[in-house]
Amino acid sequence: MSTKAFPKTIEAVQDPDIPSPRWRERLQALKNVPPVMKFVWEAAPAIVVGDLASRVAAALVPLCALIITRHIIDNIVALRSNGTPLPHTFWWLVAGEFALAAFAAMLMRLVDFCDVALAERFMRHISVRLMKHAANLDLMSYEDPIFYDKLERARVQSTDRVQMIKIAGRLVQEVVTTVSLAAGILFYAPWLLLALVICVVPAFLGETHFAFLGYSMSFQQTPARRELDYLRMVGGTKEGAKEVKLFGLAPFLVNRYSEVATDLCDQTLRVARRKLSVGSLLALLGVAGYYGTYAFVILQTVRGALTLGQMTLLAGAIAGASTNIQAVFTTFSEIANQALFMTDLLLFFSVKPKISSMPNALHVPKKIHEGFEFKNVSFQYPGSSRQVLKNVSFKLGTSERIAIVGENGQGKTTIVKLLTRLYEPTEGQILLDGKDLREYDLESLWSQIGVIFQDFMRYEMTASANIAVGRIEEIKNQFLIRAAANKSLAEHAIRKLPQGFDQVLGSRFEGAVDLSGGEWQKIAIARAYLRDAQLLILDEPTAALDARSEHEVFQRFSELTTGKMSVLISHRFSTVKMADRILVLKNGEIAEQGKHDQLIKTGGAYAEMFELQAASYR
Ligand SMILES: Nc1ncnc2c1ncn2[C@@H]1O[C@H](COP(=O)(O)OP(=O)(O)OP(=O)(O)O)[C@@H](O)[C@H]1O
Ligand SMILES: [Mg+2]
Repeated sequence: MSTKAFPKTIEAVQDPDIPSPRWRERLQALKNVPPVMKFVWEAAPAIVVGDLASRVAAALVPLCALIITRHIIDNIVALRSNGTPLPHTFWWLVAGEFALAAFAAMLMRLVDFCDVALAERFMRHISVRLMKHAANLDLMSYEDPIFYDKLERARVQSTDRVQMIKIAGRLVQEVVTTVSLAAGILFYAPWLLLALVICVVPAFLGETHFAFLGYSMSFQQTPARRELDYLRMVGGTKEGAKEVKLFGLAPFLVNRYSEVATDLCDQTLRVARRKLSVGSLLALLGVAGYYGTYAFVILQTVRGALTLGQMTLLAGAIAGASTNIQAVFTTFSEIANQALFMTDLLLFFSVKPKISSMPNALHVPKKIHEGFEFKNVSFQYPGSSRQVLKNVSFKLGTSERIAIVGENGQGKTTIVKLLTRLYEPTEGQILLDGKDLREYDLESLWSQIGVIFQDFMRYEMTASANIAVGRIEEIKNQFLIRAAANKSLAEHAIRKLPQGFDQVLGSRFEGAVDLSGGEWQKIAIARAYLRDAQLLILDEPTAALDARSEHEVFQRFSELTTGKMSVLISHRFSTVKMADRILVLKNGEIAEQGKHDQLIKTGGAYAEMFELQAASYR
């Protein structure tokens, strides 16, 4: 099947060794551990302390249990072989061992509880921080696919990586257990410890190697996984389902899905298979190390150099230390691996918005005196070499209603994005009351602008909330919300809904009711009216309105913006006619400007477009 229809998301099958990050990179990723631990601490300091205390206590249990067992056995052996009476503390020892086991069981429950509590708190803390941070970033970031990968990975990391907290806790426990058991071994046979370590190191190297391989693989697979999500989504949405059915697209989408998914599956399995073979070999080495040392201890006991109790203690300590040393290495490599994943989360947090308010930024005056002015503004989107706007100059006076017309892709929406400082000009200046827009506080600027874009949001919330988003602090003010709905002519449609203004809209939630495209548009326009703004901008939000509705909506808009600043973008000349001044955009430049009658008289681009549209109505 030809895959020309799709982006190249899955790389040609490669040797999984190639993308493996170098050791330096692996260790560098450990830098991520402290900042992440800081997040954990911020999320719930008391639980962190509780978790660590219970883990350290639990870590000391194995050695204590072995010491008690050793004394119990040696006492019994002494009684049996030479009739030495049991010491009066003997039964206390037995009771002590039971108490220790009970204590350990309780501790593990406590650790479980702390882990769950910590994971929940951490997830909430990180998600809230992510949302806050994402809201602050430039619009530009959202239009960049690389940024999307980063955001997606950060999102997954915020939830998937809670594992790391548990793992870090486990590491502490394993280290303390190992050190305590090692102290026990060291006391009787120092060189045994060395033998153990030597056997465990190869397993550690293998573990880390595959852990990092897994990371670099899933890193590479992000674009492909994004494509899979997209393919799944296309058929799974209301809009998609219609076309997928009627155009019979299912086999086309399913084929592509299975093609990409199979490639991913193959890549993952290849790494897993290698891990199976190499990992098993290395594990064998570990087992050989353990049994070698164990055999030596037995020999010493047979020769009489160690008592039976000491043998039990040593065998237990060796077994415990060997599994724990291995676990420490594995856990450590898991942490290094998790830390690599955290790179994206931390990287995401380190992305700072380029467009922000300067210190001591000006507040936009409660009453703007001169209005806005574009002065020789040129613009190209970041990462693109094409100039979308070239040397654009125009003024927008304080009580002026201007309209912008032009064919698709001429830069109309771009002008609105610049006017609202979602982007900044690459050349030239935009002035507000004679001062550069960059000198003003962003929030104060946005509070004075009511803008509805052509791709406005349809919030899956109540009708009333859908209007209130225009001025969210008034969400409880039903009077204002209804007045705005009335102005935008949305009220009629809302009143027909089963729950009126309290009706949840959309199709995601149970009991929600969807609206027609035109009804959604009227609701969106109500947001602009609710906003107590000095500049109103409508960027073609009326495309789905029927002719009568559109005429009424613009009649209202025209009345309601009399004496105010407004910008209207529309392809319908009947509505554009109402503007005080019309700008005609062509190839990123202002080709003509003036009143409707003037432009018709001039007989330029505007007159031509007007004539074309009028002719189609005749
Ligand atoms: N985020 C972006 N990155 C790169 N190029 C972009 C981006 N957004 C728009 N463009 C390009 O800028 C040009 C102008 O786009 P703009 O959206 O301003 O056109 P428009 O006049 O509003 O068109 P329409 O009538 O279709 O709404 C287009 O050619 C488009 O390809
Ligand atoms: Mg547009």
